[in-house]
This record gives sequence, structure tokens and C-alpha cells, in this order.
Amino acid sequence: MLYKSIVRPFLFLFDPEFIHSVTFFFFRFFPFLGLIIRSKGALGKFTPESEISLFNLKFRHPVGIAGGLDKNARALRFMKNLGFSFMEIGTVTPIAQQGNPRPRLFRLKQNQAFINRMGFNNDGLDAIVRRLRNRPENFIIGGNIGKNTQTPNEDAWKDYLTCFSGLYNHVDFFIVNVSCPNIKDLSKLQNRGQLKEILNHLIEFRSHQNEKRPVLLKISPDLSYEQLDEVVEVVRETGIDGLVATNTSVKRLELDYTESEIAGFGPGGLSGKPLSKISTSIISYLHQKLGEGYPIIGSGGLMSPDDAMEKILAGAKLVQLYTGFIYEGPGLLPRILRKLKEHQPVV
Ligand SMILES: Cc1cc2nc3c(=O)[nH]c(=O)nc-3n(C[C@H](O)[C@H](O)[C@H](O)COP(=O)(O)O)c2cc1C
Repeated sequence: MLYKSIVRPFLFLFDPEFIHSVTFFFFRFFPFLGLIIRSKGALGKFTPESEISLFNLKFRHPVGIAGGLDKNARALRFMKNLGFSFMEIGTVTPIAQQGNPRPRLFRLKQNQAFINRMGFNNDGLDAIVRRLRNRPENFIIGGNIGKNTQTPNEDAWKDYLTCFSGLYNHVDFFIVNVSCPNIKDLSKLQNRGQLKEILNHLIEFRSHQNEKRPVLLKISPDLSYEQLDEVVEVVRETGIDGLVATNTSVKRLELDYTESEIAGFGPGGLSGKPLSKISTSIISYLHQKLGEGYPIIGSGGLMSPDDAMEKILAGAKLVQLYTGFIYEGPGLLPRILRKLKEHQPVV
């Protein structure tokens, strides 16, 4: 309540990217704030039943933070203190890059959504690895990896492999991001040939390591059913460990803005509430194709406890937030967990 009535109206007075940097400054240097906020949210105790064992990792509960919120691994302790069970860092690219020119992040308040064309702005692999050396214990971290904008698609696998090998001893699992709409032609890497090339190189590298880190693929909500079927075949052929469904959409789904306002935002990926149904239906489709046990992480328009429940009932084993965290605040986490507890037998 406090968040929506006081904090959010204040934060929303400012440019979204500026206020993101300011809040992350506080998250980074005052991580104990997470504990204070969490106690107000009455997160409660997790029973062992809320624990989820997935690819040899024990998640305290199914709710985490999605890729892109903390691209540079600055707020790990804060998010752990808030009570999230896992978090993705990145997307990380081999070399630091600035991303697209600003403005590149737009709030669509009427629809509880964002359009972004950030373009993989991040501090680069080396800086992020240095930060991860000091990572908090008992907090699961996923490394979301990508390619530098300049790298042509034929050589993309080299960038993915560089990030994979560089992060291998610093994260617990990997998310291969080939679905960001803001890097030219990146989503073409979702075609079968190039996808297999990238994934096979990662799996080959992994086969020489002592520990087997899970590899997940993050897909776009804009894939057709034929393309989703291809993804399913790639999953079977490469043996990757899971999917993240979904990234942001290039479509302008059911927006309460005029055509010229929408055109004014320019290109970019749509996230938040308008994405909820489509990403849940993709989870459901993939779940049917891949079977009960196959790990899918649900992402896209998770704005309420009901959205979380729907994704889990559709077949997601874990769920993650980005836009919902900004619009609903940290209180969304305990609300989701309460809802999931009520339905413990079905979760
Ligand atoms: C500003 C912004 C930046 C994002 N950056 C990334 C990114 O770097 N890597 C990634 O895999 N996803 C990124 N995403 C996508 C989110 O991880 C998530 O998959 C998507 O926004 C849908 O979830 P949501 O509706 O809860 O936001 C970004 C989303 C937003 C809004």
C-alpha cells in the first residue's frame, strides 16, 4: 500500500532509467534496506514444502527476479534480503557496451507496461565476474548471456561461449538469451541451425567441467507455433535443461494509447501486463509438448498473485518478475507466496 500510494508516485515523477540508477545505487550500497522492507511485507517462514528442487538446485520458493533488472550484478544482496529465491544477472556480453541511445525506456502507465530498447547495455564480462567474486551465499544466481552488438550472427556462438566459460564458476545456472528484440537480428538466432550451434558449443564446454551447470534458453513471445515446435526439437536434440518463457514482445498488444503515441515510443520490447496471457499460453504449449517434468521458468506480465498461479498451473516450475516488481513493488513477493501456499497441493 505504502509503495503504491507514496513511493511509486514519487519514483514515477522521474525518467525511468534515471530513477533505476538512483534506486540501484541504494540497493547496492545499502543492501540491509531489503531486510527492513521485507519485515514490513511479513514474508513469513518458508516451509520445506515450498522448496523446489530443480536441476540439482534447491530454490526456497518459486519466485525470482528476471534478466535485465540487475544487468551488472549490483543488487544481489538486496534482492536476497527482500526474500527472492533467485535472480538472473545480465544480459552479460563479452565486452562492455553502452546500448542504444537514450531515451530507450518508456513507462506505459495506463497498461502497467514498459517499452524498452536498452540494447544490452552492461559493464562487460570481466567487471561482472569481479563483482560476483563477492556474491552472497545461499542465493541462487543465473547468468543471462548474450553477444555484443557488433558481433555478426555467424560468430555469435563465440560470444556466448566466452560469457559461459567466464561466468562458469561464478553462477549457478545459465540463460541463453537469443530473444531480445533490441539487438539487430538477434532473434534470428532462434532458428534451428544457429541455435544448435550455440548450444552445442556450450554443452561441449560443460562436458569438460567438474560441475554440470544447467543451461536454459530464453525465448520470444513472438514465435509462431511452428517456431515453438522447432524450439522443442532443439531442446530434444541438444539436451538443454530448461526454457525461460518469455522475453519481451515486438507486438503492441492491447494498448490504451493512440497510434501516434505508440509510434512515438519507437521500436522496442513490450513487457508487463499486456504480455501476461500470451506468455502463459506459450508456457502451456511448451509444457504439453515437453512433458510434466521439463523445467520451464515463467516470465512475462506477472503483475499479481493470480498471474503467478496461472503460470505455475500452465506448467512453469519457477516464475520471475521484472515489470511487476516496478509497478507493484516489493510487496508483490509476499502476496504471491501467500497465494501459492494456499494452493500448496497443486503447486
Ligand atoms: C528495461 C528492461 C530491460 C530488460 N533487459 C533484459 C535483458 O538484458 N536480458 C533479458 O533476458 N531480458 C531482459 N528483459 C526482459 C525481462 O527479463 C522479462 O523477460 C520481460 O520483461 C517480461 O517480463 P515482465 O513482463 O515481468 O517484465 C528486460 C526487460 C525490461 C523491461
